[in-house]
Amino acid sequence: MEYRKFGDLGFDISIFGVGCMRLPLEVQPDGTTDPTKIDEQEAIKMIRYAIDNGVNYLDTAYPYHGGNSELLLAKALKDGYREKVKIATKLPVWLAETYEDFEKLLDEQLAKLEVDYIDFYLLHALSKDRWDKIKKLGVLDFLDKAVASGKIKYPGFSFHDELPVFKEIIDSYDWKMCQIQLNILDQDYQAGVEGMRYAGSKGIPVVIMEPLRGGRLAHNVPEDVKALWDQAEIKRSPVEWAFRWLYNFPEVTVILSGVSTMEQLKDNIEIFSKAAPNSMDEKELELVRQVKELYDSKIKVGCTGCNYCVPCPSGVEIPRVFSLYNDYSIFGGAEEFKKRYKELMDEGKDASNCVECGQCESECPQHISIIDKLKEAHQVLTS
Ligand SMILES: NC(=O)c1ccc[n+]([C@@H]2O[C@H](COP(=O)([O-])OP(=O)(O)OC[C@H]3O[C@@H](n4cnc5c(N)ncnc54)[C@H](OP(=O)(O)O)[C@@H]3O)[C@@H](O)[C@H]2O)c1
Repeated sequence: MEYRKFGDLGFDISIFGVGCMRLPLEVQPDGTTDPTKIDEQEAIKMIRYAIDNGVNYLDTAYPYHGGNSELLLAKALKDGYREKVKIATKLPVWLAETYEDFEKLLDEQLAKLEVDYIDFYLLHALSKDRWDKIKKLGVLDFLDKAVASGKIKYPGFSFHDELPVFKEIIDSYDWKMCQIQLNILDQDYQAGVEGMRYAGSKGIPVVIMEPLRGGRLAHNVPEDVKALWDQAEIKRSPVEWAFRWLYNFPEVTVILSGVSTMEQLKDNIEIFSKAAPNSMDEKELELVRQVKELYDSKIKVGCTGCNYCVPCPSGVEIPRVFSLYNDYSIFGGAEEFKKRYKELMDEGKDASNCVECGQCESECPQHISIIDKLKEAHQVLTS
């Protein structure tokens, strides 16, 4: 396992951090799984195997696995494992309406995790609206007090919004770390590579989430993408390429990977055993650029998910529709996306509810012909 300095905090952290959002699930007698029902025995075995093989950073959050991820971690970290790792968990800021709610939630999480303190405590999934709201509720004062009382060691935040918001938040507090979504496809999405470099330039350690785009860069890889990867002199799996591209950046401190099987865990431990920064040569970087271009060419709608178009007066979840349409096209027409579109239809938020008022089109900074594209998406996703 490779380790990197965690900013100026005085310790090294494994480049591979285990994300506890996609743990193995119990399979029901009818063959289905329920995300709230973790296969505890297997999950504990995997977490301990990861720690025994050098992982010393575990990431969880209040809502993962319907609230059961933190409880599972408490069990996995008995028998001396707690002392070997740093735990990161996150304050579900959307549940807080008052300052006291922050305190109640933290105490609940300490109890669930069965720990005296949390190493990294992140404000979860910050966006402009959430940030503005919790700042007014006094969240920064709360973090200072939680550090002073010893309940948390290092405050941080995870992020899902546009780059300027990221920079604003980075500049607003003495953060000890930040967590962003980054992978080969999302180089210019949300904080992106520029945000990572911005945080790095301020000495703030960057933890990466969704390095495989939630598994999409690993499964159903289109044949033409596979063929491109195979042009490399040294053959590597798409998973290894995705991780290599990330650990090549010296600013990347930890890469979180969710693993749902022991096989994936072992595979990733092997990949992260040679995770040196600046280890890719120009030819390899060019190959990644070509793969990204190929994936990009499959994008049907240039929606960046900025959400300017919503709320739609008819309730259409426009960015969600486009995201499903793009993913369906990029990842080889996987049925998963049609299924998720059907769920959107059941909620009455799909494209068929569009009454063509055009309000969204006047708001869209990308000037997308939203009305036409919604029709197209609906036709494809229901075909
Ligand atoms: N703060 C936030 O807002 C936020 C948001 C998202 C994630 N996170 C955190 O970041 C962590 C990482 O994100 P992520 O789970 O989305 O990571 P990811 O690496 O993008 O996706 C994980 C999925 O990739 C597949 N996978 C992993 N290793 C593989 C291998 N060697 N071979 C084949 N497939 C492989 C598995 O898919 P299958 O299970 O389908 O096989 C796995 O569940 C999460 O677990 C969570 O802790 C935080």
